[in-house]
Amino acid sequence: MRLYVNIDHVATIREARKTDEPDPVQAAAAAERAGADGITVHLREDRRHIQDADVTALARSVRTVLNLELGALADIVRFATRLKPFQATLVPEKRQEITTEGGLVLRAGDRRLRGAIAQLQEAGIRVSLFIDPSLKTIDVARELGVPAIELHTGRFAQTWRRSDAALNELRHAAAHAKQIGLAVHAGHGLTYQNVQPVAAIPEIEELNIGHSIVSKAVFWGMEEAVRRMKSRVSLG
Ligand code: PXP
Repeated sequence: MRLYVNIDHVATIREARKTDEPDPVQAAAAAERAGADGITVHLREDRRHIQDADVTALARSVRTVLNLELGALADIVRFATRLKPFQATLVPEKRQEITTEGGLVLRAGDRRLRGAIAQLQEAGIRVSLFIDPSLKTIDVARELGVPAIELHTGRFAQTWRRSDAALNELRHAAAHAKQIGLAVHAGHGLTYQNVQPVAAIPEIEELNIGHSIVSKAVFWGMEEAVRRMKSRVSLG
């Protein structure tokens, strides 16, 4: 299981004061020293945390791989094609949301999304689509010609204490996606407490985790926070 560490909230702290610390580049290096398999950042249209300059600096400094989350917006897609991160994960984006609230609503005829996928793939970037764990949506992702999907684990994160339904939905979705040839990633709302049953789903090969790791990093330091998450993810 690969652990990609999302460091957006390191930039959230910096942007609270519009200063130059804490530095996401240093956070990425610490995460990598502790065993992160990749670094994830979301360049939002409103630039509320990660800035263009952060992504440029990370593209140079990251030694593992960079996974850039982005909406299908012309200027951000263009920026990504110039920077060529290893992977681009397309996500839905609404200005007022606190965080990415749901998966992409996929339609095979969505010209904007198809255009974004084509531009990213022509630049040699691996494209993943962040979607809800619905079999129909997974089939449309396949039709759109991407190699990978990231399953939204938000419903699981909200309900895991009282019900297995969302976990079972993730299991079925992951099995179906793998069976039709898609690589399966997952993320959103995963924590030290709830990650293990998701990490144990055999078809899932990559987890993207941010908020929980950065929260613990405040107390334990970034390296220790990543090391502890990595060991939970590996135990599955
Ligand atoms: N995956 C995607 C596509 C996301 O948008 C986010 C949040 O930025 C995450 C994973 C990580 O979620 P969390 O910060 O809750 O771990």
